[in-house]
Amino acid sequence: MSYCFLTFTESGRRMLALILRLFTFVLVCSTAEDLKEVTAQPGDNVVLQCRGSSHGAVDLLEWSRTDLKSEYVFYYRDGLVYDDSQHKAFHGRVELKDAQMKDGDASVVLKNVTIRDTGTYECRVIQGNTRSVRTGSSEVSSSVLLTVDKGGAGHSPGLTAGLVVSALILLAAGVGVIYKVQSSCRS
Ligand SMILES: *[C@@H]1O[C@H](CO)[C@@H](O)[C@H](O)[C@H]1NC(C)=O
Repeated sequence: MSYCFLTFTESGRRMLALILRLFTFVLVCSTAEDLKEVTAQPGDNVVLQCRGSSHGAVDLLEWSRTDLKSEYVFYYRDGLVYDDSQHKAFHGRVELKDAQMKDGDASVVLKNVTIRDTGTYECRVIQGNTRSVRTGSSEVSSSVLLTVDKGGAGHSPGLTAGLVVSALILLAAGVGVIYKVQSSCRS
């Protein structure tokens, strides 16, 4: 009579814990609400999404790109759009997706994108609680990672790389665990 125990060795346990952590990391990174990834082709019109609270009018909306120092992609304050605060590369190419910014929709449309528009865009929204009895204001910010590429069609390269790495480690760990089980059967 011989018995086979499915026991994980110390290194097997550590490997499994690492895999779990890696999967969690990939999952969290790819679903993080604050960073959206958008891929487009030259000539496309792209929506840069930003959503504030559905309560209260938008008092201030700033869209900036992380590599542009002091100028904005789009700047709106108290009902006016300020073209003079806008970087010249964006003149005439950015407009509000919803001119009324209903329900705090502070998304903008960037028209006729080129490869040079690739970058990380950030929005900052300040809303007063004008419709609410509560005083004070709320502030929201979020980021959009835009990639403009002639190749075009695509999914997030980060997610793909993460999944490939996870799959490889899982495979390696699987081989290791099976080997351990077999060797404990034999002894
Ligand atoms: C889009 O941009 C290119 C240059 O990047 C320009 O030649 C073309 O006329 C533009 N198209 C429109 C519809 O504005």
